[in-house]
Amino acid sequence: MTAFKTLDDIGDVTGKRVLVRVDLNVPMIEGAVSDRTRIEAAMPTIRELADKGAIVLLLAHFGRPKGAKNPTQSLSLVTGGVEDVLGHSVMFIPECVGEGAKAGIAVLAAGDVAVLENTRFYPGEETNDPAFADALAEIGDLYVNDAFSAAHRAHGSTEGLARRLPAYAGRAMEAELKALDAALGNPAHPVAAVVGGAKVSSKIDVLRHLVSKVDHLIIGGGMANTFLAARGVDVGKSLCEHDLVETANAIFDAADAAGCTIHLPYDVVVAKQFAPNPPTRTVNVHEVAADEMILDVGPAAVEALADVLKNCRTLVWNGPLGAFETPPFDTATAALAKTAAALTREGSLISVAGGGDTVAALNHAGVARDFTFVSTAGGAFLEWMEGKVLPGVDALKD
Ligand code: 3PG
Repeated sequence: MTAFKTLDDIGDVTGKRVLVRVDLNVPMIEGAVSDRTRIEAAMPTIRELADKGAIVLLLAHFGRPKGAKNPTQSLSLVTGGVEDVLGHSVMFIPECVGEGAKAGIAVLAAGDVAVLENTRFYPGEETNDPAFADALAEIGDLYVNDAFSAAHRAHGSTEGLARRLPAYAGRAMEAELKALDAALGNPAHPVAAVVGGAKVSSKIDVLRHLVSKVDHLIIGGGMANTFLAARGVDVGKSLCEHDLVETANAIFDAADAAGCTIHLPYDVVVAKQFAPNPPTRTVNVHEVAADEMILDVGPAAVEALADVLKNCRTLVWNGPLGAFETPPFDTATAALAKTAAALTREGSLISVAGGGDTVAALNHAGVARDFTFVSTAGGAFLEWMEGKVLPGVDALKD
């Protein structure tokens, strides 16, 4: 794994202004934070720095305000949530650069924590304008990046700032980088990847990269239908990107060349309507009727996939196997996730999951805590699965 400086290397921070990039892009319902996962993820770093006497200045984005101030996307709305999780008062500073920010910071004492205003209220954040990164660097002494989930953006607060101040990975970033390295960077083989979700088109680069990295690629969700169609299966009314059949064939060929086995469902659960608990049939993939849709992987295939996992040492999971938000099409995802969780508990499997719906699917199956690591990142996790260099991570390298 590439060497990064971490909080273990940061030295004496007493009275120093430490700019900590966190991900406070949290869901809200009626003005309150409805899921605190990302706030909780940042706590070990915030607590450690505050306990060591730093002035902890939290930098983050919230939504996509496109360089303009928008009161509905002010981080003042999230500061109460940070305070609740931290358990003591947190100041909100309504600027993140310039005199306003400096004045707010000047009243803080060692051990204090403050949230600065949404970095994306400033056009220079997303353009990574050197003047904006310089202005951020002026209000701090040290920089800690604890937001892996924003590290795929080459922005002022993720990339520019890391090149201007002594830069360190926070505890959440460190844990994420270690887990991802164990999953794909330097994994114990055999490695399996589960990739699900609706469309091949959104994950072509993920699939292309994975066939060169893993021993078993398990394809589920709507995207499996495109691969089944490429194999000559009539998928009826199922979601299927027929225009990507050639792409699917190229991925089959690349997998063959790399020695990666692609697993597609051979039995499936079908229905005539996509609604909760409609009449269903479990059939061989060659028996899907013209007016039916494939909505989940069947039980025989799930059992075979469980056997694959039993022989693997490492698992990377992104995306559900079926239309998991609509019962009973959550069955295959829950069953395979439970197998992965049990193997992880027994110590025979390292399991890493992340991206979009995946965390929701694992929570729904009640197994997220049993996985070795569950990433809170969406887009960043996908870009990492594509094998891309993440600018926010790259800028932290020694
Ligand atoms: C996320 O929610 O995945 C991160 O906070 C990144 O947000 P963005 O996609 O708006 O850059």
